[in-house]
Amino acid sequence: MSILIKNGLIITMNADREIIHGDLFIEGSLIKTIGSNLTCPADRVIDAAGQLVIPGLIQPHIHLCQTLFRGQADDLELLDWLKQKIWPLEGAHDAESVYASALLGIGELFKSGTTAIVDMATVHHTDANFQAIYDSGIRALSGKCMMDFGAEVPASLLDTTENAIDESVRLLEKWHGKDAGRIGYALAPRFAVSCTPELLAKTVELAQKYNVAIHTHASENRGEIRYVEELSGLRNILYLEKLRLTGPNLILAHCIHLDNDEMAILANSRTNIVHCPSSNLKLGSGIAKIPELIKMGAQVGIAADGAPCNNNLDGFMEMRLAALIQKPFYGPTSMPAEKVFELATLGGARAMGLADQIGSLEPGKKADIVIVSLDELRTSPTEGVSVYTQLVYQAQSSHVLTTIVDGRIVMDNRQLMTIDQTEVLKRAHACSKRVVERIS
Ligand code: GUN
Repeated sequence: MSILIKNGLIITMNADREIIHGDLFIEGSLIKTIGSNLTCPADRVIDAAGQLVIPGLIQPHIHLCQTLFRGQADDLELLDWLKQKIWPLEGAHDAESVYASALLGIGELFKSGTTAIVDMATVHHTDANFQAIYDSGIRALSGKCMMDFGAEVPASLLDTTENAIDESVRLLEKWHGKDAGRIGYALAPRFAVSCTPELLAKTVELAQKYNVAIHTHASENRGEIRYVEELSGLRNILYLEKLRLTGPNLILAHCIHLDNDEMAILANSRTNIVHCPSSNLKLGSGIAKIPELIKMGAQVGIAADGAPCNNNLDGFMEMRLAALIQKPFYGPTSMPAEKVFELATLGGARAMGLADQIGSLEPGKKADIVIVSLDELRTSPTEGVSVYTQLVYQAQSSHVLTTIVDGRIVMDNRQLMTIDQTEVLKRAHACSKRVVERIS
């Protein structure tokens, strides 16, 4: 399949941050050429006049399995939210409900311009989660959530260490590298509160053996930190460092309550921090010190987290909020729109270990591309307005017209192509009702 996108304003995000008014040619899964007046014969020609052509947004912390629980767990702080609502709901999932939840989430992601994610599945039915990723065409790292410890973890989710590891290895061997590398595995111990040190140490060993990422949460909530300190005698990040988790293959969500030593450890180890501004506000967790972390050299991406703590998976909302929430503390220039857009594209690509393949529009890179309309009331006037201003402060997800992953059109002029929206909505309603009733 070849696609020629004509007459767009192409926001390359290449090293020179070039913005090119012209055409982009896709052959197979790759960007072949960017230039002016391209005449390559193509199976499909898209006229992008008056539109922005951007790298797809990359969200390196999502819980697809939780999309079905949107609206079921509002106005709680993290540990109550998990214990009272999310853990029992995740434990009540069946394979069909996991599949429906994942497809609902992916449909929303495509419609709001996200082409790649790092996802944490739940403890059971992880094959169904991967199947939805496979069927939909999204680029993703995902992994079974590992939980082998905690008096308050429901029996429905509590695993033995051995089973958590064995099942992760089985899934990794089955799914990692599937569909020419579009799908990858990330080992996913939930957080230090629900994992034994043995499980975390074994995770590090496996990550090295298979050369895969580790995806977990840390330092999101003061109660969580207190609990880890009681268990280990250490601040959360020092504990993870002692167990040798920190490093460039660790994708660490939240990182809000850090002291100076912890910030230095994360920055110096090139750990990938995922900033989740909506979730951090909604759970009352706090505001991560992102401008300071960036100044220290930390690698940062932006993501929506799961639907029940947000309650959207909308990368445009996250970008806007990521820019706005720092300004009262660090000043109005602390998170400029261009920087935020870089975190939402290149930052996510780095977190996924795919910076050489995605995150920018350059010949030879994967064709993960989003076309955004500028012909909208709230993005007008356009004359003399920075495209980054347009994207971060003004545009909204409904302005996304077309989404392409790996050279495949997954949303065409706002119509999902790989997901039957009507069917997904029907299934999501039925599955949500069934799962919620199981714990009522
Ligand atoms: N910490 C451990 N599990 C979770 C989760 O599912 N969501 C969030 N936001 N934080 C967590």
